Amino acid sequence: MACRAFLAPREIRMPGGHHKPPGSRDTLGLMCHGMFITFEGLDGSGKTTQVRRLVAALEAEGRRVVSLRNPGGTALGDRIRAILLDSRSESELGAITPTAELALMFADRAQSLAEIVKPALAEGAIVICDRYTDSSEAYQGGGRELGSERVLELHHAVCDGFQPDLTILLLPPLESSLRRARRRNERHIQTSGTDENRFEREGDEFYRRVYQAYRNIAQREPQRVVAITEDARIEAIASSVLTVVRERLQAHESARPIASPQTAS
Ligand SMILES: Nc1ncnc2c1ncn2[C@@H]1O[C@H](COP(=O)(O)OP(=O)(O)O)[C@@H](O)[C@H]1O
Ligand SMILES: [Mg+2]
Repeated sequence: MACRAFLAPREIRMPGGHHKPPGSRDTLGLMCHGMFITFEGLDGSGKTTQVRRLVAALEAEGRRVVSLRNPGGTALGDRIRAILLDSRSESELGAITPTAELALMFADRAQSLAEIVKPALAEGAIVICDRYTDSSEAYQGGGRELGSERVLELHHAVCDGFQPDLTILLLPPLESSLRRARRRNERHIQTSGTDENRFEREGDEFYRRVYQAYRNIAQREPQRVVAITEDARIEAIASSVLTVVRERLQAHESARPIASPQTAS
């Protein structure tokens, strides 16, 4: 881990993970000053909604924010996203095996870390990513039953074990997420030619495994992962998110100043 400025000594460490002091160089040779925040949760849990609100709130304070989503954000990542999320991919390409799906997710991640995340962190920005490795652990490890260990080994090999400083896990009851996602997806199909519903064909058992895998991650890494489990209104969740992020930013900045209205060049 290259960017953990406020790592508690009692934290349970990820299998194969490694920690570097803040400001040390990572494998790309970049100094790491910014703060890396990820959003996780099931489809329909409200990630994209909350990312937008958080970006707007932080930018209104004059902070430099870079936001992206996994998969996507780079030219390669956008192609991978189209393959993995469009429900029509498999009629063209044939069945995508779970391990191929996992490997493509990590190919996307490697590219966006190198092209977007690490350079932005090196410049002191707050980087907010809609999904990251926890999604692979939950969906491919849990949902597709490849297991956490395989996913974490790949994370170590491909991403150098690079972990977020903070992960907001949106985990309202499973039924709420699924209902919202289905409603949103129907609207999306009506308004655009494409869909991102490949995972939606999965049954309830798949999503129960994803949900449980997320709970396990939150229990394993309570310092990094803040789970919001209430089924509350968008505004109430946004306010909880902002409180957590402000608290962590303060701790992060007292360890090492990052881009803010006072320190930005
Ligand atoms: N707390 C909430 N209560 C009710 N509806 C919500 C809430 N959060 C998001 N939504 C709605 O649910 C749908 C899915 O939200 P979205 O942010 O796209 O989820 P995700 O990115 O996690 O799939 C959207 O139509 C959004 O407006
Ligand atoms: Mg989304």
